[in-house]
Amino acid sequence: MCGIIGYVGTQDAKKALVDGLQTLEYRGYDSAGISFFTDNKIKTIKKVGKVSNLRENVKASASDMESHCGIGHTRWATHGGVSDTNSHPHTAGKVTLIHNGIIENYKELQDELAEKGVFPVSQTDSEIAAMVINDLYDGNPEEAIRLGTAKLKGAYGFCIMFEDIPDTIYAIRSGSPLVAAHTEKGSLIASDMVALVSYTKQYFVLKEGHLAKITKDEIIVKDEFGDIYGPTIHHISWDVGAAKKGGYDYFMMKEIHEQPESLRNTIKPRFINGLPDFTDDGVPDSLFEGIDKIVITACGTAMHAGLIGKNMIERLARIPVTVEIASEFRYQNPIINEKTLIITISQSGETADTLAAIALAKEHGCKTLSVVNVKQSSIARESDYVLYTHAGPEVAVASTKAYSVQLSVMYLLAFKLALITGNVSENKIREYTAEFADIANKVEETLSYDNQSENIAKRLAKAEDIFFIGRGLDYMLSCEGSLKLKEISYIHSEAYAAGELKHGTISLITDNVPVIALATQPDVYAKVISNVQEVRSRGAKVILITDSDASVDASLCDHQIVLPETSPIFTPFLSVVILQYLAYYVAVEKGLNVDQPRNLAKSVTVE
Ligand code: F6R
Repeated sequence: MCGIIGYVGTQDAKKALVDGLQTLEYRGYDSAGISFFTDNKIKTIKKVGKVSNLRENVKASASDMESHCGIGHTRWATHGGVSDTNSHPHTAGKVTLIHNGIIENYKELQDELAEKGVFPVSQTDSEIAAMVINDLYDGNPEEAIRLGTAKLKGAYGFCIMFEDIPDTIYAIRSGSPLVAAHTEKGSLIASDMVALVSYTKQYFVLKEGHLAKITKDEIIVKDEFGDIYGPTIHHISWDVGAAKKGGYDYFMMKEIHEQPESLRNTIKPRFINGLPDFTDDGVPDSLFEGIDKIVITACGTAMHAGLIGKNMIERLARIPVTVEIASEFRYQNPIINEKTLIITISQSGETADTLAAIALAKEHGCKTLSVVNVKQSSIARESDYVLYTHAGPEVAVASTKAYSVQLSVMYLLAFKLALITGNVSENKIREYTAEFADIANKVEETLSYDNQSENIAKRLAKAEDIFFIGRGLDYMLSCEGSLKLKEISYIHSEAYAAGELKHGTISLITDNVPVIALATQPDVYAKVISNVQEVRSRGAKVILITDSDASVDASLCDHQIVLPETSPIFTPFLSVVILQYLAYYVAVEKGLNVDQPRNLAKSVTVE
């Protein structure tokens, strides 16, 4: 959720921290702050607003201060409103820290401290953690951190500095991610690799409960028993340019355009002789044998990819699949056992609810497979098996390319499962895969629909409500189109199964209400068209998205978008580009910050 970074080295720490926070800003942008050692004292600058605001403040008030060690934070507010005081870093006595996560028992700890006459200045749970550690500090930082964190319940990634131990950062985590690297220019720790990549491509993941002592010359990691631990070094496979805008106005538009390449990278290595193959992923076919049901669990956009996955797996392999919102699944006492395959889908690999769903699945003896974009993330590490999507870093809060590659893995899984169950002949699967291998080119073709989409979006921007309708795959895609639109344009929107409209929602259709109708599936085409007629006769303005075969009476809609030619089962890959464009251009037309919509953050590490 929040972005955190620590730097100690030969460079100007203030600049290193603010630059690092800029790359992490997508994790939270309510406020930003840094603390750094200067003249053997800790100086803190923290401000409500974006990192650019912090940068101005640092320039104005600290440009002459020399510093080579510090910590920085960009906040997504949980406990305590958005204010300078509630911004991180927080200081208590000799301790200054930054925190990503939530301390659930902070109230109880606050009451304990109050009995000792110690009171916080902010309303945050994080300051209480600083106070707890300070209370236990008598010159031994590692002991104070160990004893202090033992009292905390909840999730945390901390970077901590002690006033009397200059140029040293300590870090510890439970639940929230931390990655670290030692380079020639110094040592770094951060909540995400994007903050490290301009220094190095080699990094390690700080394990749960491990404690790191970070200095200019080295990073010493100790396990929970206090023994020195040699972490495994991983390699970042993408380039520093992947985390930059590269000439686009917004990351979202860049990432929409990266979909063909992401799809190629995700699909191509998994075809051997025209058939899906997960050998290089270390996922054996035996994983899929003997399962009697599949539960797909995820959140938001990733859950929408799961809906289409369900449709494809049930259609091709005839294995029953349910899709569960991860935050609900956990509390439903689900009927799952060792014959259930749990598939989790996540871009960040850190979503707290999805992570908790895996823990629950394991308690029930289920096999777990995750579809994850970020390498070595918590979800990837906790799952029995992983199929990585290869989208590279996704920076815009609204997910685009990650969704497309999640879909592609769900299709590969459906093909594989259909072969294993024998429900579809190998020849037929080869026919599908031959066309699927070309899907990235079709998506590329669809990217040229930008002007058309922009013109339509300009007319949608003044709407107060926008409805999406479709049936089957198109309904599932409508859910994603509606989420995308509302999250970045702030226009109220709902997705409806087209046939369900008249069971309530059609009362909301009045003159000029935009309805985006997807009609790309021949088996239900006529039915969707009837539903379109129903909303048109109540005054709706209809934007109709069809496949290339559909013949539409021009009077039926206000705008028609005809997708490039493809088989109906593959239209979601193309339709989603149009829906992403519409959401994007509506938000731009409204003058909104497309990449950083209000109240949101990219990686949701709190429940
Ligand atoms: C919406 C969006 C979110 C995420 C959701 C899950 O555009 O990006 O709905 O899909 O928060 O995140 P991950 O995929 O990181 O688990």
